[in-house]
Amino acid sequence: MSNQNEVRKNFGQRASDYRLSSTHGNPTDLERMINLIKPRSDASALDVATGGGHTAIALAKCANQVVAIDITPEMLAEAKTGSSQAGISNITFRAEDVHNLNISDCQFDIVASRFAVHHFFDVNRALQEMCRVLKPGGKFYILDCSVIDGEETEKEINRIELLRDSSHQCSYSPRLWHQLLKELPLTIDHTSMFKEQYELPRWFDRMGTDQNSREEIFRILNSLSAECKIRYPFGDDYITTYRYEILATKN
Ligand SMILES: C[S@@+](CC[C@H](N)C(=O)[O-])C[C@H]1O[C@@H](n2cnc3c(N)ncnc32)[C@H](O)[C@@H]1O
Repeated sequence: MSNQNEVRKNFGQRASDYRLSSTHGNPTDLERMINLIKPRSDASALDVATGGGHTAIALAKCANQVVAIDITPEMLAEAKTGSSQAGISNITFRAEDVHNLNISDCQFDIVASRFAVHHFFDVNRALQEMCRVLKPGGKFYILDCSVIDGEETEKEINRIELLRDSSHQCSYSPRLWHQLLKELPLTIDHTSMFKEQYELPRWFDRMGTDQNSREEIFRILNSLSAECKIRYPFGDDYITTYRYEILATKN
């Protein structure tokens, strides 16, 4: 079932926090993305679910043209602000849903999306759409929150994410990513898993997570198996998270 209204509500009310977020604007992550994609100066790129615009802006500094899409109007407004502040003029911003892109086949040299796939309610359809608009030989890049392989983490960590953000659908583990990717016309060039921390209460505040949900999240963390606790250390001021990165080429 579509979560569009939930996404627009949750992101719309805190859009500027995402433009200002040090997690989303992390220069090391953005530089690594550019080093992996290696955009040519004549390349056209699509940034799917642009949020505060960090991915689109980083791509626009190297590529010829970027189209940045998102379904939340407040986010597009923030991304526009971010790009004008950065002195960027080669990004076009459009309100679009990744599940049904109003774009012809094979238009882009690069299709990228960061911190967004976990919101897509029909992930197979969304990934197919992203591949459809990519040219053969074009680069497909994803960075998203992930969970380590295993039934417990796939269930419990996603329960935590959903308590924090009601528009959350699924953070895919590497094994689930493998199943998703094998259905797509892609050759995988690179994957990486990163262990990171969410700073608290900032991570909760960015989504306006209520007090009951914050407490439930700590109850879940405390009841994880000993094996999972080793992989997911936490404290009053942090929670452990993982991120999965994919670079692929369209066949
Ligand atoms: C965390 S933000 C993205 C951050 C951004 N990509 C960056 O690099 O900083 C997640 C974004 O996904 C967008 N989104 C969620 N579902 C979407 C969909 N079906 N189509 C397009 N955008 C979507 C939300 O509106 C939100 O702006």
